Parts: sequence; structure tokens; C-alpha cells
Amino acid sequence: MESIERVLVTGGAGFIGSHTVDLLVEKGYEVRVLDNLEPQVHFNRKPDYLNPEAEYVFGDIVNREDWLKALKDVDAVIHLAAIVGVGQSMYQPVRYLTTNSIGTANMYEVLLEKPEIRKGIRKVVVASSKSIYGEGAYVCKAHGLVYPGLRKREQLEKKDWEVHCPFCDEYVKPVGITEEKPVQNLSIYALSKYDT
Ligand SMILES: NC(=O)c1ccc[n+]([C@@H]2O[C@H](COP(=O)([O-])OP(=O)(O)OC[C@H]3O[C@@H](n4cnc5c(N)ncnc54)[C@H](O)[C@@H]3O)[C@@H](O)[C@H]2O)c1
Ligand SMILES: [Zn+2]
Repeated sequence: MESIERVLVTGGAGFIGSHTVDLLVEKGYEVRVLDNLEPQVHFNRKPDYLNPEAEYVFGDIVNREDWLKALKDVDAVIHLAAIVGVGQSMYQPVRYLTTNSIGTANMYEVLLEKPEIRKGIRKVVVASSKSIYGEGAYVCKAHGLVYPGLRKREQLEKKDWEVHCPFCDEYVKPVGITEEKPVQNLSIYALSKYDT
């Protein structure tokens, strides 16, 4: 199998993406970035930390034509472009689902429809989010590992913000989440990241 030399990083002007670009450049990869410099993140200006060794396609993942330009002649894709506000997603559901879910679907559709682009691509890495695991994982002294549901309104009205065991109602201790945890999408952002 041929090795990976050219990598497309979507969202490569963002927090995780720009560090990913720096590391790839340092390791000798040719890097292209697809990023629309989302005004909410970049305040209508090009960030001064953009790696000058990378090639920049300033375009939108919602736009198929921009994917076509960005995917040309790359060997791998690290897809990080997304809008990332949990609270904001609840009052802008169309914007979040369009960018994160449809934007990602656009990439797959272009790859499905264009064998000449698909054939060169060896790897696609897509960022999901731990928000898809909702309230998270906990340990109960009596019941071991538990996955509590949403805290109830009556509980929160008593100003009890802690999480209780779903079996015995005792307080539980948070632990790290593993991929065995059932999915629990509690926001539009989480839904859009579950899709991706
Ligand atoms: N930061 C975290 O803690 C975290 C945790 C879990 C998952 N993630 C995921 O990692 C990825 C990167 O997150 P981040 O924290 O670096 O976010 P960020 O906002 O710093 O970077 C996202 C980048 O994507 C770009 N972008 C937004 N909409 C776009 C569009 N329509 N077309 C092209 N580019 C667009 C923005 O301009 C920005 O540069 C996202 O997919 C996010 O869901 C982040
Ligand atoms: Zn218990």
C-alpha cells in the first residue's frame, strides 16, 4: 500500500485543527486546510497562527464544490470542521445540523460519487464528541458502574445538582466514559456529532 503524504485537515484554522496542522507539517506531510473562518470563532479575520507551510482552501463544508476542491489529490482526511456550541445548538438546530451533519454527509457523498477522488484516499478520521454520552458514567457503592438518566426537575428544584444511582438513588462518583456506554444525545450538538 502506498504511504500517506498529503493530508486534508478540515477546520484546520481552529483550536484542535491548527495544532494538528502544525504537527503534520513538522512530521513532513503536505497539508491542505479547508476552513471557512467561521466569524463566530475567528471574528472576521485570518488568525495569525496559521501555518505558512500548509495550503489553504477558504471554503465551506456545506458547499459540495468546496469539498471537490479540497479533496483533490489528497491521501487522507482529518475532518474537524464543525460548529461547536452545545447551548447555542438548542436555539439554532438547523444551522448545527446543516453544518455538522450535512457538511459531513457532503464529504461522504463526494467520495461515493467520485471514484477518481476516492481511489487515492487511504484514511478518513472524523471527530465526534463525548457529548453523545450525555450524563456520563458513574460508580455506585452498591451497584458498581451505572449510567444515570437526566436529573429530574423535582431534584433540581431542591437545588440538588448531584447525580444519583438509577437503582438505589444514592449519590454516585463520576468515572471516565468508555465506548461501551450507551449513547444519550441530550443536545442538538450531540445529535449532530452522533451523525458524524
Ligand atoms: N474542543 C473540544 O473540547 C472538542 C471536544 C470534542 C470534539 N471536538 C470536535 O473537534 C473538532 C474541532 O473542535 P475545535 O475545538 O478545534 O473547534 P474550533 O471552533 O476551534 O474549530 C473549528 C474550525 O472549523 C471551522 N468551521 C466551522 N464551520 C465550518 C464550515 N461550515 N466549513 C468549513 N470550516 C468550518 C471554523 O472556522 C474553525 O476554524 C470539532 O469537530 C468538534 O466537534 C472538540
Ligand atoms: Zn446504586
